[in-house]
Amino acid sequence: MPKLCINIDHIATVREARKTIEPDPILGAKLAIEGGADGITVHLREDRRHINDRDVLLLSQLLCHSESFAKTQDDISNSVLFTLEMAATDEMLEIVSKIKPGLITLVPEKRQELTTEGGLNVTGQKKYLTEYLEKLHKKNLTISIFINADKEQIQIAKEIGADFIEVHTGPYAENPNDKELSTVKEAIEFGKSIGLKINAGHGLNYQNTAAIAKLPDIEQLHIGHSVISRAVIVGIKEAVREMKLLAS
Ligand code: PXP
Repeated sequence: MPKLCINIDHIATVREARKTIEPDPILGAKLAIEGGADGITVHLREDRRHINDRDVLLLSQLLCHSESFAKTQDDISNSVLFTLEMAATDEMLEIVSKIKPGLITLVPEKRQELTTEGGLNVTGQKKYLTEYLEKLHKKNLTISIFINADKEQIQIAKEIGADFIEVHTGPYAENPNDKELSTVKEAIEFGKSIGLKINAGHGLNYQNTAAIAKLPDIEQLHIGHSVISRAVIVGIKEAVREMKLLAS
């Protein structure tokens, strides 16, 4: 079964809606780990719309400098993996050189998008990405590339030096039918056959995850929005109970 890495960006989205200090994604991360998360994932965006530099620093202290942190991919079986999603920019290179997350997932980033819209177009920027990945590898960092379920893109991801790919499950999540599932399956098989390690994610929820989790050879699933949404709903009774006690 794949490891479950929980993306906690949307805890920070709620905080930023009020520009206040709650809910705190660091506390959310701790509770997610108590709930059984194998990893914590955040996306540090250029515009810092949800996760910010303070969050990344504190998460790295919680996860990267504790005994339970997965320092390499190989120890994830008995520890918690910290994954940083980021754009391939100089600013992010500087940040990860200091933070050293267990896994970096390179994603495309557009200011106007609500969430990451598609895989990174590696064919369009092969030379730039090859050099970028070399710089990350020199710092002993492990790199995944978020990628569409497309053989050509996956082949180039391998050629530019990726250790992992994260297969974009968004099209399957939007149309969870056999055809889309086969597309994801074939992408995984192809990636594996050329020596890549395989993650998957985006748009996975309580209805469509089981079919993906059953596919062979997926190391990690990265899931955010549906879990944080569910947390709001399953937590609301208790939250109201606590306030009722104070207000009565
Ligand atoms: N994987 C990547 C690369 C992402 O950018 C995101 C969204 O931040 C996710 C997984 C999680 O997607 P979702 O929030 O739809 O579960």
